[in-house]
Amino acid sequence: MVSPEKYAAMVNEAIDRLELPAQPAGLYEPIRYALSQRGKRIRPVFTLAAAQSLGFDPQEAMSQALGVEMFHNFTLLHDDVMDNSDTRHGRPTVHRRWNLPTAILSGDAMLTLAGQLMGTDAPYPIVECFNHAAMEVYEGQQYDMDFESRDDVTEGEYLMMISKKTGALLGAACQIGALRAAASEETARDFYQFGMNYGLAFQLRDDYLDTFGDAATFGKPIGGDILNEKKTWLWIKAMKEGNLAQILAKGLQGQDKINAVRAEYQRLGLDTEIERHIQHYIDAANDCITRLSLPAEEAAFFTSMAASSALRRK
Ligand code: IPE
Ligand code: IPE
Ligand code: MG
Ligand code: MG
Ligand code: MG
Repeated sequence: MVSPEKYAAMVNEAIDRLELPAQPAGLYEPIRYALSQRGKRIRPVFTLAAAQSLGFDPQEAMSQALGVEMFHNFTLLHDDVMDNSDTRHGRPTVHRRWNLPTAILSGDAMLTLAGQLMGTDAPYPIVECFNHAAMEVYEGQQYDMDFESRDDVTEGEYLMMISKKTGALLGAACQIGALRAAASEETARDFYQFGMNYGLAFQLRDDYLDTFGDAATFGKPIGGDILNEKKTWLWIKAMKEGNLAQILAKGLQGQDKINAVRAEYQRLGLDTEIERHIQHYIDAANDCITRLSLPAEEAAFFTSMAASSALRRK
């Protein structure tokens, strides 16, 4: 095994080697922009690491790792349109830097490129696993948007939604690496469950950072979830246990609304309570690693990745 940084560097090198045509520049330039070396590359790192932990040469799993990363970046292009987000990776989003049609079409092309990469030298179960995860992401994204206009979303519904929009792809990223190494069904399932639980912790932390993070480090606008009335764990808890409904009834806008909702989260101690909630999913992810009975160094790779997701700031 190598470090997460080394796997990420391998992914970045492989992305640099991808030969995208120059023309039409309006299609390919935004793809190069989206894939530039600013993302954390967590998903392809998991694909490579899962393969290597089972004794498979990670370079042989690179097409699938790139397929996962290409798909992830496609979802970000369209997610930024859906969430009306102005910045990502500390720069204008594709639909702001160019325009809406560009974000749609470059996103479409990335989805097809992802499918081509995924299918390269891969047996059918890998393609099936990828397609299944993709459908889950779309369902999760639809629930995420449906929930914006509902005020009775439960914690259970929130978990279902994030398991689809975020957990499924992280699960598949791990499972695909395992399948590339010809893992048994049971091993592939445990890797999926690891990624799924990691993904739940990861999205909870993302929701925390969206309200309490630092814009320059996070690279995304702070408070967007509050303005969009996203039904995050923080929101649902503050609705149930605090005065969020009364605060919203005041009709505050923009930064005033963000400040008032954030203060209510803090008054209720949700900014610290969420840490215990995140830890619960990290523990569940680690249980999957225990079940896998990997050699010590391999197991430590995954458990330390899980631990760092609770502390991440970007
Ligand atoms: C962002 O994912 C979308 C979520 C699931 C929260 P990442 O935080 O992994 O994004 P990049 O790839 O590092 O930019
Ligand atoms: C991300 O959810 C889920 C995706 C599948 C893209 P968010 O909407 O919270 O992601 P960010 O915060 O914009 O990266
Ligand atoms: Mg978003
Ligand atoms: Mg979103
Ligand atoms: Mg977010």
